[in-house]
Amino acid sequence: MPISKGQSFPTNIPLKYIPYTAEKPEVAACGVPATLDLSKEFAGKKVVITAAPGAFTPTCTEQHIPDYLKHVKDFKAKGVSRIIVLTANDPFVLSAWSKALGYKDADNFVVFANDPNVELLTELGPDFVADLSSAGFGKRTARWTSIIDDGKVAFIANENGTGFSEISSAETVLREL
Ligand code: BEZ
Repeated sequence: MPISKGQSFPTNIPLKYIPYTAEKPEVAACGVPATLDLSKEFAGKKVVITAAPGAFTPTCTEQHIPDYLKHVKDFKAKGVSRIIVLTANDPFVLSAWSKALGYKDADNFVVFANDPNVELLTELGPDFVADLSSAGFGKRTARWTSIIDDGKVAFIANENGTGFSEISSAETVLREL
């Protein structure tokens, strides 16, 4: 059964991300990977997780993630403590992608974190993994979005593939907050 509203979001898989620092603003400047402990992220807070099939791929880069970045102020105003952009890429690619997308904010309200072996995604359910092996991408995440409130799923919507529509848009999440 795929994860659904009201259930606890898994916290047993540590994710990696590279925090943005003003000392390394260039796209090609490598930072230092850190661990994102979801149990700490979730405790008493509202967190948005939005999952994208691939850094630097067209829909993720030109539509999905810019849609969230342009609404950062609105998410903060609705009490969100962090947005996690989740992919199966490595953290160095994610760091470069976040900077290429123009997200250079040392408060790291948005973090680009990874689940490289789709372990977390597999726990969420088969519909959350997109097998893009035939395109040479291996196993990735499907495109989905969610609100986690104090560790419980308050909202979750899955495109069940790599398309981007209002199902997983920032506007949809903002309406649900
Ligand atoms: C995209 O356009 O977002 C995309 C393209 C190919 C594979 C995964 C994602």
